[in-house]
Amino acid sequence: MVARIKDVRDVLEPGQTLTLHGWVRTRRDSKQGLSFIELNDGSCLGNLQIIVEGTTEGFEDQQKHITTGASLEVTGELKESPGKGQRVELHATKIVVLGSADPETYPLQKKRHTFEYLREIAHLRPRSNTFGAIARVRNAASAAIHNFFQSRHFLYVHTPIITTSDCEGAGQMFRVTTLDLARIAQIQTEIDYAQDFFGKAASLTVSGQLEAEIYATSTGPCYTFGPTFRAENSNTTRHLAEFWMVEPEIPFFDLQANMELAEEFIKYVISHVLETCAEDMDFFNQRIEKTVLETLKNIVDHDFERIPYTTAVEILEKADRKWEFPVQWGHDLQSEHERYLTEEHFKKPIILFDYPRTIKPFYMRCNEDGKTVRAMDVLVPRIGEIIGGSQREERLDVLEARMKECHLDPEDYWWYLDLRRFGTVPHAGFGLGFERLIQLLTGMQNIRDCIPFPRTPKNAEF
Ligand code: 4AD
Ligand code: MG
Repeated sequence: MVARIKDVRDVLEPGQTLTLHGWVRTRRDSKQGLSFIELNDGSCLGNLQIIVEGTTEGFEDQQKHITTGASLEVTGELKESPGKGQRVELHATKIVVLGSADPETYPLQKKRHTFEYLREIAHLRPRSNTFGAIARVRNAASAAIHNFFQSRHFLYVHTPIITTSDCEGAGQMFRVTTLDLARIAQIQTEIDYAQDFFGKAASLTVSGQLEAEIYATSTGPCYTFGPTFRAENSNTTRHLAEFWMVEPEIPFFDLQANMELAEEFIKYVISHVLETCAEDMDFFNQRIEKTVLETLKNIVDHDFERIPYTTAVEILEKADRKWEFPVQWGHDLQSEHERYLTEEHFKKPIILFDYPRTIKPFYMRCNEDGKTVRAMDVLVPRIGEIIGGSQREERLDVLEARMKECHLDPEDYWWYLDLRRFGTVPHAGFGLGFERLIQLLTGMQNIRDCIPFPRTPKNAEF
């Protein structure tokens, strides 16, 4: 039987004959002529100890190739382990080196490497403990997201990646073109997008929300979960140029209900990961961030605080703190402000709502005060903003006026306006930054380590 190490460690009983595949983490030779190989196949954090004797078939001629990073096929008998820290070990009867890894040049040696160095070898870093664990947590969180929405009968909608509308209206889009830009630069000063592949300027999407609204107002509650792209030149530990976003959209829903759903959603995903990734989560708590389990349990066990943006500004103004960026009503909160509120003032997640309309996109529902919109941001310790959402403007005339105020041409959004023209309904939704969630779950400092292949300014290797 061919087995994976997770099953071998967790469930299989001693006495069975097994074949395993994996990569050598370490090898130690005893004076008695035994070799102890720590084998890992990525199915779990823990390795399986393989015990090899001089008589093991294949060992003698291949033993010089059994070094860190080499891939093996091992057959043997599973036995109870006398050593501590493991239930079972494999006594090899046959060993085959499938691929050697020259110890002189293998970049991922046993010693601890910096995360900066590991980013340069992103093709090998998933073989390390940390990046294997992150990959499994990403996987478990993805499954939890689908479970959460599927069990509530939300429809999973695949929204387009190439788009001709700027959802957030922030102009931070990557252009998609087949035009020969080098040639155009030589012969004309302006680009004629009518000649381009789509007949007009197209970009990579910054959000699937507008299309999700189409389905929400047709087939009911839905969600998207896909890649989004932002050409913001932000070299921070919380920004990526390509990131994954989860965007539920719900008809017949208001801001209050939206906040409740966001809180329930975050708690559900965290609980699922704590339950299904216990070994990886203990690793993060011991080796990456000593407070990560405590923070996550605290999030799951307490109600989120909900306060209007205006109250948050008052708290920040009164805070005995020198801010790098001044606090002022009508300005976006900076990361330092968000983190103060959630980490120090409330010491738990908070949901800020009713933001000034001047700093929020056109689609958010205008409040009666004429100054604020029905926006909400969920802020969590160590990260700051993890979710942004709102109740949407469902009134045709108000939406058209807002578009003009935001210097958008309503004609470009004719289909979006049609949703208000024909059978409009109150609706709301939000977007969760998936990599920020992974940062929260793992305690990793830098968002670049929370996605397999990070894309950031001046960096799109692998
Ligand atoms: O607040 P944002 O811009 O909201 C939207 O895009 C809405 N259309 C969502 C909706 O209502 N359906 O982005 C949502 C979340 C942020 O809270 C943040 O977690 C994440 O996406 N995010 C980023 N994550 C990584 N890198 C970036 N550059 C990000 N920009 C936003
Ligand atoms: Mg936002």
